[in-house]
Amino acid sequence: MTATAAAPRNDHDERVRRDYRCVPLDIVRLYHDLGVCLYTKAEDQDFPRLYRSSRIAITDDDVNELRRRGHRWFYVPVSEYAALDQEVKRTLRDKLCDQSVAPEERFAVLQTAAAVELDSAFHMIKCERFVDLSRSIAKDINALFGDDAIAPRRLFDLVQHDFYTFTHATNVAGFATLLADGVGLSDSASREQIALGALLHDIGKRFIPARVLNKSGKLSDEEWGQIRMHPQRGYEDLCEGAGLSEGQLMMVYSHHERIDGQGYPVGMVGDEIHPWAKLLAVVDVFDAITGARPYRAPMKIGQALAFLERNAGAHLDPDMVQCWIALMNKT
Ligand SMILES: [Fe+2]
Ligand SMILES: [Fe+2]
Repeated sequence: MTATAAAPRNDHDERVRRDYRCVPLDIVRLYHDLGVCLYTKAEDQDFPRLYRSSRIAITDDDVNELRRRGHRWFYVPVSEYAALDQEVKRTLRDKLCDQSVAPEERFAVLQTAAAVELDSAFHMIKCERFVDLSRSIAKDINALFGDDAIAPRRLFDLVQHDFYTFTHATNVAGFATLLADGVGLSDSASREQIALGALLHDIGKRFIPARVLNKSGKLSDEEWGQIRMHPQRGYEDLCEGAGLSEGQLMMVYSHHERIDGQGYPVGMVGDEIHPWAKLLAVVDVFDAITGARPYRAPMKIGQALAFLERNAGAHLDPDMVQCWIALMNKT
């Protein structure tokens, strides 16, 4: 996928990305005391500043005020993130069932809780741990999205867009589940399968060196070759023993195919591409262009939807694109 290049990100952004993890403001609606120091960063600040020490709890009023001032995230130093992660995981089950909190806010907590574990499982030699973890997250997503009406645009506002692998996987799973509902794949079994396929779709990137994945300059032909192998490597990784359906495997194998046959790994055309892979391609591209990358700033939502529209027909399935645009414009 290629996207219009936006302004490159500066060194400060890179340092913040390296030294802090973001957690959504709304996490403190579930956890008033996370036991770690929380930092905030305004648009005009280069680095996060201490907002509240670990000993002082945060109230809903604090969160409302921060939101009014345009904040969306707390920043937690990487050195303290493990403590927060432990606390969130320990109580996750109770929090996911808390009906007093909107499901999209609970999804944001699930994403935070899954972060570190998914990230480390992704780099293990065998994929079983990542698959098991993803299976349990897919179940949670399905349960969260099952009964309550989720506001797609609000989900977009709440999820993280930093393009760590785990963030991309969980965003795409949430978005794919909503799009599945939108195109009529709304039975629970399909929704859960699609959520899992989406969580696993880039598992083949485990085999690509980080220096290639995160390279900010132009990729050599050889590096491009490595990137283009990830759907097939992922498919081979999962095809035996993971217990996935054909649709799920095709989500992994064909998510970079294009309607006009110019995609990879094999250049399938139109209806040769499994519908679940076409569905995934829309939200995969959407999350890629709205997420920050080392070499470009994220697109705003309006730009991103216009980009999808321009690419409907040749690259992406036009009906899926229209459905996603309609969902994202719903208030
Ligand atoms: Fe991919
Ligand atoms: Fe992806």
